[in-house]
This record gives sequence, C-alpha cells and structure tokens, in this order.
Amino acid sequence: MPHRIPLVAGNWKMNFDHLEATYFVQKLAWSLRDVRFDYKRCEVALMPSFTSLRSVQVLVEADRLNITYGAQAVSVTAQGAFTGDVSADMLASLGCSYVIVGHSERRKYHPEDDANIVDQVRAVLAADMQPILCVGESFEERRQGIELDFAVGQVHDVTRDLSEAEAARLIVAYEPVWAIGTGMVATPETAQDAAKAIRDDLRKSFNASVADSVRILYGGSVTSKNASQLISEPDVDGFLVGGASLDVDELATIARLA
Ligand code: G3P
Repeated sequence: MPHRIPLVAGNWKMNFDHLEATYFVQKLAWSLRDVRFDYKRCEVALMPSFTSLRSVQVLVEADRLNITYGAQAVSVTAQGAFTGDVSADMLASLGCSYVIVGHSERRKYHPEDDANIVDQVRAVLAADMQPILCVGESFEERRQGIELDFAVGQVHDVTRDLSEAEAARLIVAYEPVWAIGTGMVATPETAQDAAKAIRDDLRKSFNASVADSVRILYGGSVTSKNASQLISEPDVDGFLVGGASLDVDELATIARLA
C-alpha cells in the first residue's frame, strides 16, 4: 500500500481579511500544538484570499509554523498588461506551496474551462508549486449515471498534456458540485469510487508510480462529523474543506482525524 501523507486544506474562499487570517493561523497553530499534532502524519494547509497571503507568509516564516498555504486561483500570464490578474510567479514569491485550479465556483463565475485550466496547471508547476485540480460532477451528470466518466474526463483533459513528472506533482480534489456548501456530503463509497476511478486513469495514462504518488482529496460538506469515515477509504488522501475550515476547532479536529 503506497504511503501518501494526508493533506487537509482549508479553502477559505472569499472570507477573512489579512488581520482575521493572521489571528486564525495563530489560533490554529496553538490548537494543534496543544494536542501535540504530528505534521509529519498529516499536512495542514490554508488557502486564504490573495490579500492575506503576505500576512500569512510573514507569520508562518517568523514563527516557523508547519502550516503550509496556497492560493485559490491563478492567472496564466507570466506578467504584463493584464489588469487584476495574479501570476504563478507572484504567488510562489509569497511562499505558496499550492494553488487551487479549476474550482467549480471559478468554472461557474469566471471564463475558466478545461482549455485554460491546463495552462493554469502548467503555470503553477513551472513556478514550482503544486496545483490542486478540482473536478466533480453536478446533479445532472449523476442523474445520468455518468459521474465517474465526467470526473475522470476532467482530470484526463488536463493530464493528457502533462509529462509524467508534471502529473506526479498534481493533487486532485474530487468535489461533486452537488455536495459543495449544501451539507449533502458524499458517502465514503461515492468518494472512494471517484478517487479510485481517477487513480486508475492516472495508472493507465502514465504508470503505477504516478498513480500512487498523486494525492486525491475529497471536498464537499466535509466536517468533523464525517471526516473519519471518508478518510478511511483507501484512495481518499485528505480533504479540501470549505465552510468548516472557517472554524479553527472544526479544522483542527478534521486534521486530527485525517
Ligand atoms: O474547495 C472546497 C469547497 O468547495 C467545499 O466547500 O463548504 O462544501 O466544504 P464546503
């Protein structure tokens, strides 16, 4: 059984300014220290808004915290006349380890589709960070019974343009759209089926080493109440947590359960 260190990542979405973010990180670090949390057993990452990244970096570096962090989105341009955009290099210069790519809310509210998502993934990899590629079906795909093909297809649309080395650095977050923000968490079996289908496709597209190294997270109404059952599934390597990540105790408990 290949060993993949679980990753519990909190996607704060558009919440917390830089002062609230700083306070949260300190509270989380204290909470995990109080229980002698082993960061070698499970990695804890936070995805604050762009405006909080520098504050989080200063705190994490100054206090040598083991909490990693990243961004919720990225532009594909390296630099130049792109008003309002943020490049991967800029995020890397702020110490980001990860960048969420293709979140369903970005696909819904911004002109992001599989084509430019590949470019985002490549930009993140080129800046020596790891992309967290979000995929997942809507109710409609599930009603049609094509949910696995849909999620695997979203991953494949990206990986078919990647080298083995690039694919091995990918992190995938299976986030069924119908579970995001709804309280309708997927069953452990549903999460496992999707994660296994994605891993099997990686094995077929590349090889066992790539398939075994990619961490596949589950996202969609994860809480401290359902985390244990979900993480017990063999192909579920952690979580991308939305709403529950805004509560220090919830996030710390989910990390301890992972
Ligand atoms: O990226 C994770 C997020 O989409 C899940 O949100 O609130 O259902 O945990 P939530």
